[in-house]
Amino acid sequence: MSLDDWKLLAAQKAMTFVEPRMKLGLGTGSTAAKFVELLGVEVAKGLDIICVPTSEATRKQAEALGIKLTTLDEQPFLDLTVDGTDELDEELRLIKGGGGALLREKIVATASESMIVMADNSKQVDKLGAFPLPVEVVPFGLKATEKMIEMLANEAGCNGELKLRMAADGGVPFKTDGGNLIFDCHFERIEDPESLADALHIIPGVVEHGLFLGVADAAIIAGPDGVKVYEADYDIEV
Ligand code: A5P
Repeated sequence: MSLDDWKLLAAQKAMTFVEPRMKLGLGTGSTAAKFVELLGVEVAKGLDIICVPTSEATRKQAEALGIKLTTLDEQPFLDLTVDGTDELDEELRLIKGGGGALLREKIVATASESMIVMADNSKQVDKLGAFPLPVEVVPFGLKATEKMIEMLANEAGCNGELKLRMAADGGVPFKTDGGNLIFDCHFERIEDPESLADALHIIPGVVEHGLFLGVADAAIIAGPDGVKVYEADYDIEV
């Protein structure tokens, strides 16, 4: 089986948590896209749900599938968000933002009663950080923000190169749906994610970072050992 098959298995399992009339947050990325695809099939059969997408890409996909969409302005509280992740550790702490949607993903997940992440087992790690941590920043004062991230991350025990993310064609910087830029921070190991998150939050030019701490309630992991559901120590019943 390929990574793609495992992503699909995880998405199929996530579908079992969806109930009629739920208000759902729809994640971004290749795993979330499989979930949205499956959701579209059920909607076509009559499933009544309403969703908030976490990116323009997901919005377009959901619209094309005829999934009813709303906004957090109309529905400020959601029942469940289902999303992918770039890394997760044993405590279900995540690194997200590989697709650049971390800000909307975090807003939508935080507005939800529960969040479930789906992943193939390659995303499970002992320590977060091998996947470069995305940090979304405003364009104004970019160099000053970069230096501040380096300094404060260093005080939080993290060192490594910060790379300004470039668009797929490589010619210009990548822009998020909110018009911001992203530094991918190659820290390799994040010993204390909470301290790093606190440090990043006090930098004015930082809009948000890709550490999702205490956000995910459950993780669905698919791999050679089958599909497993891991619960965080809080909330959701699986
Ligand atoms: C999007 O910004 C990310 O947070 C994705 O959820 C994450 O990158 C996982 O993507 P894949 O499912 O494509 O691996």
